[in-house]
Amino acid sequence: MKVEIDLRMATGDGANSYATNSRLQKKAILETKPVLQEAIEELYMSLASRSTMICADLGCSSGPNTLLFVSEVMSAIRNYACDQEMDNRHAVEVQFFLNDLPGNDFNLVFRSLEQLQKYQNHIVGKENPVAPPYYVAGLPGSFYTRLFPGQSVHFFHSSYCLMWRSKVPEDLSSGTYLNDGNIYIGKTTPPIVVKLLQEQFKQDFELFLMLRYTELVCGGRMVLTFLSRKSDEMLMHGDVGRMWELLAEALQSLVQKGIVEKEKLRSFNLPFYAPSVNEVKALIKGQGMFNIEHIRLFESSWDPHDDSDAEAVLDCDQSGESIAKSIRAVIEPLIMDHFGGSIIDDLFLEYASIVANHLKKGKAKYPVVVVSLKKAIH
Ligand SMILES: C[S@@+](CC[C@H](N)C(=O)[O-])C[C@H]1O[C@@H](n2cnc3c(N)ncnc32)[C@H](O)[C@@H]1O
Repeated sequence: MKVEIDLRMATGDGANSYATNSRLQKKAILETKPVLQEAIEELYMSLASRSTMICADLGCSSGPNTLLFVSEVMSAIRNYACDQEMDNRHAVEVQFFLNDLPGNDFNLVFRSLEQLQKYQNHIVGKENPVAPPYYVAGLPGSFYTRLFPGQSVHFFHSSYCLMWRSKVPEDLSSGTYLNDGNIYIGKTTPPIVVKLLQEQFKQDFELFLMLRYTELVCGGRMVLTFLSRKSDEMLMHGDVGRMWELLAEALQSLVQKGIVEKEKLRSFNLPFYAPSVNEVKALIKGQGMFNIEHIRLFESSWDPHDDSDAEAVLDCDQSGESIAKSIRAVIEPLIMDHFGGSIIDDLFLEYASIVANHLKKGKAKYPVVVVSLKKAIH
């Protein structure tokens, strides 16, 4: 597997696309809105008149969430300028870069920009606040490489992306160590495999911080939101580890039915790692390139359509189906590349039923970490 080529969300805007099935990720953007607002206000205030504020969304994907990021930043600026009674003399312009891997459906993003423009015009027309002009460009490439000139960016945002690794650790992809029918960390995963994935996260995250540090202007900010773990323990009821363990169970059941070859499953591992908050803090502090302005863990139901606080699941079968759809939109291209497209419908039918069964024990929630960082002065 070559992550830079193979990792992409389901393209287009059809029934199984990421664009249609990304309500879970949208909830995270809305949950972290106050953190984004605070960072944007501080940056906007610090800009000189007639300057350009450069903002980049790393791992933008395609669909409504891509546009939501742009409108959240613009509305934070408008509201702030309005509250401060700033007038057009401040005259800041905003340049957005929407980044993702080259396989991302950038065409869908570009086609939907007109819709965004209409929406922005409508808002501005209605409230008549100060509305800085903004420009949007697509930027293909891995965020584990340099993407911008040194000291050129004011604000980096990334939501639901940094749990993806730059690669499956070599000793795992080469078969030196095996993961015993798991696709991520499961109950039977050997400790050495856990260590390899942990190490890969450390390497990737430190590289990411170093690259962004170089690209940010003095005083530059980042808001990063990604899947996490509630404790330093590896597997808990609602954690993302359990969710992948259930997908591995669905694959194992297709092996038993003779639909998937055992060898194919043995050689499939996700380029993924969800760190605990302590791991995240330790790496940021250890590297010393950023000050942590804010860090918080929140939880989000596995079911993208469940907004209730109740601990019980009302309809396990329906929730199982919604969860299977949301995971399918994220993982379908990776699964197809490795196992072939013919297993997809069977796999996610099986998965929905395994998840429904799991939910009988109670609601499952993903832990999500949001961290707001400011470039440190040395
Ligand atoms: C679950 S989607 C989240 C998309 C969007 N931010 C949202 O909140 O809906 C994760 C995105 O991260 C992108 N991604 C993963 N690794 C990446 C990398 N190394 N460089 C750029 N994008 C990456 C994937 O291609 C995918 O579009």
